[in-house]
Amino acid sequence: MELYKKYRPRNLQRVIGNTATVQSLRNMLDKGTLPHTILFHGPSGCGKTTLSRILMKELNCNQIDFHELNCSDFRGIDTVRDIARKMNMAPTGGDCRIWLLDEVHQMSKDGQNAALKILEDTPSHVYFFLCTTDPQKILKTIRTRCCEMPVEYLSENDLKRLIRMVCKREKIEVASDIVDDIVDAAAGSARTCLVLLDKISNLPEDQREGVITSHQADQECIDLCRALINKDSWSKVSKILKGLTVDPESVRWSVLGYARAVLLSGSKPQAYHVITCFEDNFYDSKAAGLARACYEAVIT
Ligand SMILES: Nc1ncnc2c1ncn2[C@@H]1O[C@H](COP(=O)(O)OP(=O)(O)OP(=O)(O)O)[C@@H](O)[C@H]1O
Ligand SMILES: [Mg+2]
Repeated sequence: MELYKKYRPRNLQRVIGNTATVQSLRNMLDKGTLPHTILFHGPSGCGKTTLSRILMKELNCNQIDFHELNCSDFRGIDTVRDIARKMNMAPTGGDCRIWLLDEVHQMSKDGQNAALKILEDTPSHVYFFLCTTDPQKILKTIRTRCCEMPVEYLSENDLKRLIRMVCKREKIEVASDIVDDIVDAAAGSARTCLVLLDKISNLPEDQREGVITSHQADQECIDLCRALINKDSWSKVSKILKGLTVDPESVRWSVLGYARAVLLSGSKPQAYHVITCFEDNFYDSKAAGLARACYEAVIT
């Protein structure tokens, strides 16, 4: 099993960082005042799904009554209707039914509007946990019906603690400069930390650094791809470009691959535009050619 799954904290004491959120959940559970609609928001890999699953156990919810839905898979109001029908049924054995609505910002406006009703008429044996990395995209009317629980990046010390704990239990030996590199590359995400640790754990010492560096390079490319597809500001794009350590022609291939995937998964005119801007190679123009293509992609 992957390390990040194996070491998903099973109870609140084991959750690293996020002390304010953990503490208020603990208090509310102890007092029996946990709100029935909670919105966990914050960056990827820092504990949103983990906290929801811990609450499932704390609330004594049967696995069969725990419904985890990814909102990018369902966009319509049909799913909401289905939930509305099921939520009135009594739990099968445990104390409650829980719906975990993941990536809730991906739900269509119609879906969100339909969801308003089930969030408002939640029966006392039902809990809704909404998770998102992008709370700004959620309707205000939904947000005001939820108790917001921010989840934050882990500090460097917390990430080090996590790596050391896992290394000790798994009997993995890692040099301290590699630990520092992993923490650097993970940029606050516990999941990335454990994914990288997994990758290097089976490699000889002298190949470990390369894996971490290439992960960072991939990440830089993904950040650029996202910015181009979102048509972000030139100041944001130029900042990413300045930090880029990957050679321009490799970046071009990453951008083309990313834009193609976006184009095929839906009709995003910007993806088409990005592809046309990146058609010509950068063999001669190099970094200047890359900068020009990026500029064209977000400005025109
Ligand atoms: N606060 C934490 N303490 C310890 N481990 C953590 C913590 N947060 C995340 N992890 C580790 O990272 C993995 C992924 O975390 P989780 O699924 O909770 O992230 P998430 O916030 O839901 O991310 P995403 O937005 O990508 O869905 C967990 O299985 C666990 O191994
Ligand atoms: Mg999650």
